[in-house]
Amino acid sequence: MTTISDRQSTPLITGPSGRAIAQPMEDSLISAFQDHLTFERNASAVYFAMAIWFSERELRGFSKFFSDESSSEQQHAAKFADYLIARGQTVELQEIPAPNQQWKSVEEIINYAFKMEAENTTSVQQLYSSAERSSDVRTTVFLDPIVDNQLTSENEFAYLLGRVKFAENNSSALLIIDGELYEGKNSPAKLS
Ligand SMILES: [Fe+2]
Repeated sequence: MTTISDRQSTPLITGPSGRAIAQPMEDSLISAFQDHLTFERNASAVYFAMAIWFSERELRGFSKFFSDESSSEQQHAAKFADYLIARGQTVELQEIPAPNQQWKSVEEIINYAFKMEAENTTSVQQLYSSAERSSDVRTTVFLDPIVDNQLTSENEFAYLLGRVKFAENNSSALLIIDGELYEGKNSPAKLS
């Protein structure tokens, strides 16, 4: 057990910005966190591009939906930045590529978005496993609600994809979905 004199004599560990570190993070975990933060910022840029695509085509419900998604991905990136700082680390902002803006159909966009959400979940799960390997409980606790939220996002995108597939590119059907999205109705059926 740590004694008072141990505490007085042990040197304080500090991070790159000089902040105190309670438990150091493994280097591989830090760099996986930096990459994930970039993934979130990239997702935000992609969703913003999608919001623009819909806005240019008078689909204001879809546009609002993707604009909100873009903001929430930026918030996720901010959450990861807050966490790195709380752990005494610094945040490295990496380059974000210009998103694709050449989409052929609504279905193509939702398909792409669904796949991106699934990749995001995989990335969070990899962070989780790597945190577990290094017995970094602070990180697994931080990631728990994030894994849960990812599942909700995948579920919502799968629902939206199903609705859009039903529409088969029919403009009246797409306008109904657009109206629903404008009112914030994007949750699948719930049996419980
Ligand atoms: Fe996210």
